[in-house]
Amino acid sequence: MAREARTLWITGAGSGMGRAAALAAARDGRPVALSGRRPEKLEEVAEEVRTLGGAALAVPLDVTDRAAVRSAAARIEEELGGLGALVLSAGLNAPRRYWRDQDLDEFAAITDTNLLGPVSVIDAVLPRMRERGGGTIVLISSYSAWRFSPDAGTAYSATKTALGPLTAMLNAQESRYGIRACHLCPGDVDSDFLDRRPQVPGPQERAVMLSPEDVGRAVAFVLASPPHVIIDELVISPAKPGP
Ligand SMILES: NC(=O)c1ccc[n+]([C@@H]2O[C@H](COP(=O)([O-])OP(=O)(O)OC[C@H]3O[C@@H](n4cnc5c(N)ncnc54)[C@H](OP(=O)(O)O)[C@@H]3O)[C@@H](O)[C@H]2O)c1
Repeated sequence: MAREARTLWITGAGSGMGRAAALAAARDGRPVALSGRRPEKLEEVAEEVRTLGGAALAVPLDVTDRAAVRSAAARIEEELGGLGALVLSAGLNAPRRYWRDQDLDEFAAITDTNLLGPVSVIDAVLPRMRERGGGTIVLISSYSAWRFSPDAGTAYSATKTALGPLTAMLNAQESRYGIRACHLCPGDVDSDFLDRRPQVPGPQERAVMLSPEDVGRAVAFVLASPPHVIIDELVISPAKPGP
């Protein structure tokens, strides 16, 4: 008998929003597979999931390594079974964000991580999701993909913006197989990611940002929506601080 497709695979799961999504999913009783490049961070999150009574499997990988992504998908199906959802949170930006200081190798690395990374993970799981007749895919994009944000960086802005049509294509082509996708666009989130900014924000600026847990809750909401509901796009931003 087919196992219920409750397993969630998260990339970028060792920190920030990926970690928060893993803990929220564990509270909802989903087994979670955790991917990222640093095994020790994944093991820490796996331990936190187990403390909550959940099942977790750390599957270290670099999302730009397509062979590793394919083997990881097979391993997760083998060890946890029922791979029914994806949260694609692995992302990259660089402090050099303007044409004047652009480095093409860096541009390619950002494209490989932010655009081809999600494509290759989705590609690895779609056939099985189609066979099963269901799947939910959450792409952690950015506010800068929803509204042009000049300081986000050329490569970052272009690659995150591309996730909008990618999501729409998935919904247009795959919803007939019960597969739905959400383009999730968070504004500023207080995470390690901010260390890649040209001016790293201090504690006061971070205090008025979203927390990774705010986004983790939003991801849980998308995953828990009934199968006939598609949340095409979800934009989340921090309230302006008081006067
Ligand atoms: N923080 C913000 O203000 C903000 C706002 C909007 C959108 N976002 C997006 O939100 C997502 C999550 O970021 P975050 O804020 O939670 O920051 P974060 O804690 O730095 O998370 C990024 C994660 O991506 C993983 N990662 C990076 N490159 C990878 C690769 N090649 N292969 C596998 N994993 C990789 C990192 O782990 P390893 O280094 O161990 O691989 C890390 O766990 C990113 O896609 C980011 O673009 C962030």
